[in-house]
Amino acid sequence: MTVLSVDDVHIGYGRGRRRVHAVRGATFEVAEGRACGIVGESGSGKSTLARAVAGLARVDAGRITVHGAPPAPRPGPGGVRMVFQDPVRSLNPRRRLLDIVAEPLRIAGTPAAAAREQAGRMMRDVGMDPDDFGARLPADISGGQAQRIAIARALAAEPSVLVADEPVSGLDISVQAGIVNLLHELTAGRATALLFISHDLSVVQTLCDQVVVVNGGRVEEQGDTADVFGRPATGYTRELVAAAPDF
Ligand SMILES: Nc1ncnc2c1ncn2[C@@H]1O[C@H](COP(=O)(O)OP(=O)(O)OP(=O)(O)O)[C@@H](O)[C@H]1O
Ligand SMILES: [Mg+2]
Repeated sequence: MTVLSVDDVHIGYGRGRRRVHAVRGATFEVAEGRACGIVGESGSGKSTLARAVAGLARVDAGRITVHGAPPAPRPGPGGVRMVFQDPVRSLNPRRRLLDIVAEPLRIAGTPAAAAREQAGRMMRDVGMDPDDFGARLPADISGGQAQRIAIARALAAEPSVLVADEPVSGLDISVQAGIVNLLHELTAGRATALLFISHDLSVVQTLCDQVVVVNGGRVEEQGDTADVFGRPATGYTRELVAAAPDF
């Protein structure tokens, strides 16, 4: 079943001669439990598209829907959550980790005691023992651990779409694979569709069922990841693949 639908979306910044047409007619769909990668050069419009899918940016033309409704940045079914590049900055520095993970459940209407219990389970799911970490503050954990907490928070209350904009590029290489595996474990075959933005084509190849290649705000090509990377249809994608290290 299609969860996320992006239909001929245009997004620009600024006006007049300063206007930047960042996204130019993007069209793609992502089904339940599937992972879609977005790749393209720096400035090609990936983050702009990501924010619009998360309901955090205005769309100038075209339509984005999640289960048929406009995307809303909220927890729970029908909602879209985002995981960012800088996990520590995305967590409230004054709140304890268990409360951070429990917050979206509270917003989704779960009573306090049940929300804390479920947040503890989510913390275990991401490899963070709530007995050890629940009472700590974001400043008292590593970047990789903070990203685990951000993922637990984003996936608590099972949103329909998880948008991850370069979620591992700010992390030490030694912890990147663990975070990618976690995203796979917690989304593949579940209710949540994953939109994964990355410069790392080999990670996209491992994690994503499908990929959308963007170039100057336009979708250059898209399809099954193995097909697109294995037999690129355009020179732009061929160059992207050729430039990727260890690929
Ligand atoms: N707030 C903004 N105001 C004006 N222009 C912007 C703004 N944000 C992005 N842009 C421009 O829109 C275009 C797309 O930017 P975007 O951040 O979406 O690219 P990206 O593909 O995510 O790049 P990167 O790989 O470097 O993260 C770029 O030309 C950028 O300069
Ligand atoms: Mg970006």
